[in-house]
Amino acid sequence: MILRLAHIEVRVRDLGAARAFYADALGFVVAESDPGHLYLRGSEDFETWSLTLTEAVEPGLGHLALRVADPDELDRLERVHRDLGLSVRRVPDGIEPGQGPALRVRGPDGSPLEFVHELEQVTVTGESGVRLPMRRSHLTGGLPPRRIDHVNLRVPDLAGSLDYWQGTLGFSMSEGVERDGAIFAAWLRRKAGTHDVALLGGPEPALHHFAFSLTESADVLRAADLLADAGYARSIEWGPGRHGVTNALFLYVRDPDGNRLELYVGDYVRDLDASPVIWDFPEFERCGRLWWGQPPPPDFQQTTGVNPAWVGADAVLSGVE
Ligand SMILES: [Fe+2]
Ligand SMILES: [Fe+2]
Repeated sequence: MILRLAHIEVRVRDLGAARAFYADALGFVVAESDPGHLYLRGSEDFETWSLTLTEAVEPGLGHLALRVADPDELDRLERVHRDLGLSVRRVPDGIEPGQGPALRVRGPDGSPLEFVHELEQVTVTGESGVRLPMRRSHLTGGLPPRRIDHVNLRVPDLAGSLDYWQGTLGFSMSEGVERDGAIFAAWLRRKAGTHDVALLGGPEPALHHFAFSLTESADVLRAADLLADAGYARSIEWGPGRHGVTNALFLYVRDPDGNRLELYVGDYVRDLDASPVIWDFPEFERCGRLWWGQPPPPDFQQTTGVNPAWVGADAVLSGVE
């Protein structure tokens, strides 16, 4: 059983510039670093990191990791993916700091996925007793963002992708948009919130954005102030506004390499067996994409980076069987 989205690897050209943006301006907690990577988390992530920035030639998605409930699940998922004729690779523990053995696959839509059970946790008990991750606010600046929330992907064959994400991986659709009798966009989850992954059709597979949740609505404005005060006013791409789908308040920002980060707060919690909320396309256009706020800029439909075959996938899956 898959539990939720656990972490995402995003590729950046300049790790120093990315660190200034994510850690110094926005307040992501720096867990670890090495010459090619920076490992970050939100203030309420219980795992030591949830966002890896990897230095690379092109920006975009490296991989996204889904946590499974049981280590044996890796064997089952390996069989399932082999049966589907998909590329699989087992990777040993420690390939990322604090990460146990994992299974990496290229999904049928090309998405570079990792399944993992064991992930290092933030230490919450010590000599002075219990200290939850979020009770280190005296050590952080910026917001900081609260925790990893979701990724939004463009996929060339949405119906085929839904078969995989819902049928094979067991994701539940919280909301969908129907156009001409077919699903045009879908918000899928394994956690109780509105989504871990959103899928929209697109000419080629790509990362559209990844999102971290904030603690409260006012943090959306605080994020805009922090970014503008630190010289990143032009990095604010769209928002603040409220989505009709998911009900969330949002601010979309671009990191120095153009990777799109959504800062997000206010979606709801609902049981996984609930029927999805379906919007018809005109209704989605009228108030689903945007309940209130200014319309998105024309560039908003651009995906992050030039990512024709998941730029990161080759590195993630090198040595695939
Ligand atoms: Fe990973
Ligand atoms: Fe989003």
